[in-house]
Amino acid sequence: MDFDLSPFSHSEVELLTDLKAQHFLELYARETGEVAAETSLATPFVPTTAQLTFAARVAWRNAARCIGRGYWPALHVRDLRHISEPEAVFAELRRHLALAWNGGKVQSVISVFGPDVRILNDQLIRYAGYPDGRGDPQNRRLTAQLVELGWQAPEQHTDFDVLPLAIQTPAGTRLFEWEAEDIQEVPLLHPEAGDLGLRWHALPVISNMELRFAGLTYPCAPFNGWYLATEIGARNLADQNRYDRLPELARRLGLDTSRERTLWRDRALVELNRAVLYSFDRAGVRIDDHHSLSQQFVAFEERERAAGRRVNGQWDWLIPPLSPATTPVWARIYREDRDLTPGFFHPRQRPASGCPVAHGA
Ligand code: ARG
Repeated sequence: MDFDLSPFSHSEVELLTDLKAQHFLELYARETGEVAAETSLATPFVPTTAQLTFAARVAWRNAARCIGRGYWPALHVRDLRHISEPEAVFAELRRHLALAWNGGKVQSVISVFGPDVRILNDQLIRYAGYPDGRGDPQNRRLTAQLVELGWQAPEQHTDFDVLPLAIQTPAGTRLFEWEAEDIQEVPLLHPEAGDLGLRWHALPVISNMELRFAGLTYPCAPFNGWYLATEIGARNLADQNRYDRLPELARRLGLDTSRERTLWRDRALVELNRAVLYSFDRAGVRIDDHHSLSQQFVAFEERERAAGRRVNGQWDWLIPPLSPATTPVWARIYREDRDLTPGFFHPRQRPASGCPVAHGA
């Protein structure tokens, strides 16, 4: 594929890429105090492991939608740029899950692979969504794609069948099944109502976003944090186009669902979130609540201001979906720079400048 849709000539692209590398190295020098060897047009920039580590952490710090990024300096970065072969990638992803799991004391980890690898799944761990209504409706398309690629769904569909992982390279797409020991899940128990017959996995690992910095793109760089309870209790299990479990829980709790104004939805929502926090705590699995995490986010904002940096933010993602106005984030104003790098981007989300991005060497 050698045609060029860009309005820039080849040498202009090189110049822009070079400027982005210079710009990154300035940031790196400013924040770490380490001055790197100069790059020039003649030598494509290949970041050191220390530079990659810094870039991944700053990409997290810049993530406009993330309320948990106060922990950015602690991101564990795995430099796996030498790995591009699907079996080896999958073996490293299994290690990623184990490292992130850390016996329940979940740690934030990113694994950066070679430039020719992509992961089809949007997260490493996803539950199948079936046409018969079982499972997570959000994953119906992904499930169908994986079936198309040869996945055999279990004969008895459940609501929580873990999907295989599709790893794509220039040689094609390959499917890998997780081992049972790779997948840590928490069964949901309500402190008074007991077993809810629901569960969720412990690790959210985003696997379809690219890490971009210095004019480079790393398309396979899966990263995880730990859950904020509302992600599970106020969205995944509650949204009407996801698991839609509020009506069932309301009935179980004996709430009056005959009229909206009994606020049975709101009451069930709070109880579902209590159950998520209670169950993760009981299982010894790290999870945050939205009040504490919002307070930590405000503290992060203050540290950033003190460091002379502006916080990149998208208000409608930063506020929690449950009781947002009770958190300090509600009354604040955020601005978003969609092109800020280092950053994590969805592959189709091209920088506004429209210029092509060179691939990592
Ligand atoms: N909201 C997504 C989910 O429920 C996960 C997004 C990342 N979340 C995180 N806590 N790092 O699966």
